[in-house]
Amino acid sequence: MSESEFKNPYRPGAGHMPPYLAGREREYAEFDRLLGQDEILENLVLTGLRGVGKTVLMDTFKPRAVQQGWLWASADLSESASISEGTLAQRLLADLALITASLTVADPASQGVGFTADQGGEVTLSHSILAAVYEDTPGLTADKIKATLEYAWEHLRQENQHRVIFAYDEAQNLSDHASREQFPLSVLLDVFQSIQKKGIPFMLVLAGLPTLFPKLVDARTYAERMFRVMTLGRLGEEDSREAILKPIKEADCPVKFTEDSVGLINQESAGYPYFIQFICREVFDVFIQQHAGGEQRAVPIEAIQRKLDADFFAGRWARITDRQREMLWVVAHLDHSGEEFTIQELTEKAKALLPKSFSPSHANQMLGSLTERGMIYKNRVGKYSFAVPLLGRFILRTYELPDPEAEPI
Ligand SMILES: Nc1ncnc2c1ncn2[C@@H]1O[C@H](COP(=O)(O)OP(=O)(O)OP(=O)(O)O)[C@@H](O)[C@H]1O
Ligand SMILES: [Mg+2]
Repeated sequence: MSESEFKNPYRPGAGHMPPYLAGREREYAEFDRLLGQDEILENLVLTGLRGVGKTVLMDTFKPRAVQQGWLWASADLSESASISEGTLAQRLLADLALITASLTVADPASQGVGFTADQGGEVTLSHSILAAVYEDTPGLTADKIKATLEYAWEHLRQENQHRVIFAYDEAQNLSDHASREQFPLSVLLDVFQSIQKKGIPFMLVLAGLPTLFPKLVDARTYAERMFRVMTLGRLGEEDSREAILKPIKEADCPVKFTEDSVGLINQESAGYPYFIQFICREVFDVFIQQHAGGEQRAVPIEAIQRKLDADFFAGRWARITDRQREMLWVVAHLDHSGEEFTIQELTEKAKALLPKSFSPSHANQMLGSLTERGMIYKNRVGKYSFAVPLLGRFILRTYELPDPEAEPI
């Protein structure tokens, strides 16, 4: 097979399974431990910055769980920013129905849940049956959901398939809305806490950005004890190497990356999985073309970087104001800009670098709106960091302060 017939194996893209998923042994060991629970004392929060690999890791959790006898119900909550308690209930019922649909139950009409089925005494445990249980349960939304989950569990248990994982991605989108008197996040936590206390082995796995866990704890303080937090970060050097090299090695591909190329990809991606896939994909294409043209193989890192800037960073950068950009530029100049900083560190640096600095309260307010825009993340002890990986490098690479002389005074 010629090189040009080799398909590019790398997979940059949200939720795209990489050709080789590197370095998650610790996470698998931890997840296996959670799967071993008979009574659910700990649920899982899987968190980390954009593009670190939460979605694909969660996808690989599913077969592991199934192999251990768990059932798996899952959904993506990307569109759930305005979810109400009612829609949360619909979500849970719909996900549950997919796994109960293979069960048959005695005709519930005779059990007083108000469902009329065909003659014959047995019907499948379909969505409409779950919905009927839900509707016929008096009380608050949380009571209705609990009763429905308990009902489903009774039947699953009879089939010896009683352990279920409810896995939700992009769960940072769930919010309580006091102004609308809608508390779907609290309802979700209350429901699982309550049924787990009764010994029902339904486990929650929530994946999301670093705002997720603080949000859960804000909604219900007991969430702190209810979840095991797994934070995904950049890959270490060995794991990055494997993520870069294994895909072409395993495909027995004639394109090879030199040690220098690997070093460069490692350095430019800083071990962030999305960037590894992105850069490797470009490098692979270029090597194939260079080879076809008889050229030497060199990594055109600047061109790749520009493409990455345009594809990944530019859109986010375009959505903020000039003053916000100045502030992020200052953050990028802090020592350890990849790590945490305080408002005081920021305002001191701004004084040194900008013609016009920020007052602490102004900085606080601007950091708040940058947090809402997903550029900045504030942790639970009040320290800030970039919410987008390698944003600091992008800023230093591409941004210049506007010339103060050119501005009207
Ligand atoms: N362990 C890994 N080894 C190699 N590549 C990986 C690994 N984990 C993820 N990737 C790659 O990184 C990219 C991002 O993965 P994924 O979409 O799962 O991240 P995410 O954390 O869910 O991001 P987001 O916050 O945007 O949803 C994908 O292209 C994926 O193939
Ligand atoms: Mg994701």
